[in-house]
Amino acid sequence: MAKAHTSLFGKHILLGISGGIAAYKSAELTRRLRDTGAEVRVVMTQAATQFVTPLTFQALSGHAVHSELLDANSEAGMGHIELARWADAVLIAPASANTIARLAQGRGDDLLSTLCLATTAAIAYAPSMNRVMWADTATQSNCATLTARGYTQLGPASGVQACGEIGEGRMLDGDDLVSALASIFRTGILQGQRVLITAGPTHEAIDPVRYLANRSSGRMGFALARAAHEAGAAVTLIAGPCALATPADVERIDVVTAAEMLAAVQQRTPACDIFIASAAVADYRPAEIIGQKIKKSAAEIQLTLVRNPDILATVATSSPRPFVVGFAAETEALVDNARDKLARKQLDLIAANDVSGTDIGFGSDYNALQVIWPNGEQSLPRARKATIARQLIGLIAHHYHKKQHEKNTA
Ligand code: PMT
Repeated sequence: MAKAHTSLFGKHILLGISGGIAAYKSAELTRRLRDTGAEVRVVMTQAATQFVTPLTFQALSGHAVHSELLDANSEAGMGHIELARWADAVLIAPASANTIARLAQGRGDDLLSTLCLATTAAIAYAPSMNRVMWADTATQSNCATLTARGYTQLGPASGVQACGEIGEGRMLDGDDLVSALASIFRTGILQGQRVLITAGPTHEAIDPVRYLANRSSGRMGFALARAAHEAGAAVTLIAGPCALATPADVERIDVVTAAEMLAAVQQRTPACDIFIASAAVADYRPAEIIGQKIKKSAAEIQLTLVRNPDILATVATSSPRPFVVGFAAETEALVDNARDKLARKQLDLIAANDVSGTDIGFGSDYNALQVIWPNGEQSLPRARKATIARQLIGLIAHHYHKKQHEKNTA
């Protein structure tokens, strides 16, 4: 794997292929993307299937190719909304003049254009067409519309074209497209900052074989670590027991109990700029750990629990303190309870999630957050934790830099 493209490792890339002779180059592009460790799913327009067969892309991506908007079989597998949510980024390559025009109009009458409307992921496109078509004011104005809407334009390159003319309009090469796509994930908004994150549950021993725990998988915290690293931060992740791979270039410290998590956090707090507490720390632990396995002789037993230290509040009241971000896992009165925690624990920002169901929050790949700060709030609607994490890191970076600026100009 090319080191320069590690920001694509594990990413879900939806490769949209529209009708143009450069569609054959997208076969190589699919391989290049997979070489980085990205997972690739391919969507082809009807016109694209005239140039290269879906079977080629099925073999190269390892997944069935999607091309129909209203196809019962596809919808029963991964429906178009699921596909839109699955993507971390959409790359349309080649993007024909017609596809660019359709996207600029916001149409939703084929699968690719519908996905672009339905996704919250970043969308990049690589124009590919004859030089005169590229220079046409209609095409230029459509590209300007897409740029204004947040699409990233990659290329085009200049050179000899399929029609024999020489000029601007060639699709960028696979390696250039992979590099450009990777840079979308490397935002640099936390460049040079040190971020400390807690993740996962804690286990509080009852006896040598039993413990108190909760349903946290660690996915939210690990996604935040990955997003903070992509944003340029040096990241330390303090993880309770969870079976997840360590994100690339992130320092990981494994702990088991709340007491161990607190000790690890306190040791590293002086060297961090931003602290994010996404761990589901056990609020209580057994008052004593029984030395031998408890026998099941008695009909009833009592377990006395004592309060664990509050790691987040400890960091928030330390001096000097980092920028402090808490989470609030609530089953009712989400915003009121989160605002109360924000004030009581003296936080800079809190991310509240509703954990009353199973489709978001604990153990799920998805989450939805209400992000609250002293004089404002913002909703991050349901999306994959990778997407939510990137959005939350964006908000944290914004408020962190704002506070730094205020400090410096006070
Ligand atoms: O791990 P996943 O399966 O991906 O699920 C993600 C999540 C639902 C666990 C995560 O999004 C989340 O909400 N984490 C916080 C869970 C929690 O313990 O919330 P709380 O409302 O009980 O605690 C409030 C805050 O205080 C949290 O930031 C928590 O980390 C912190 N805390 C709590 C108790 C304690 N003793 N020390 C703490 O630092």
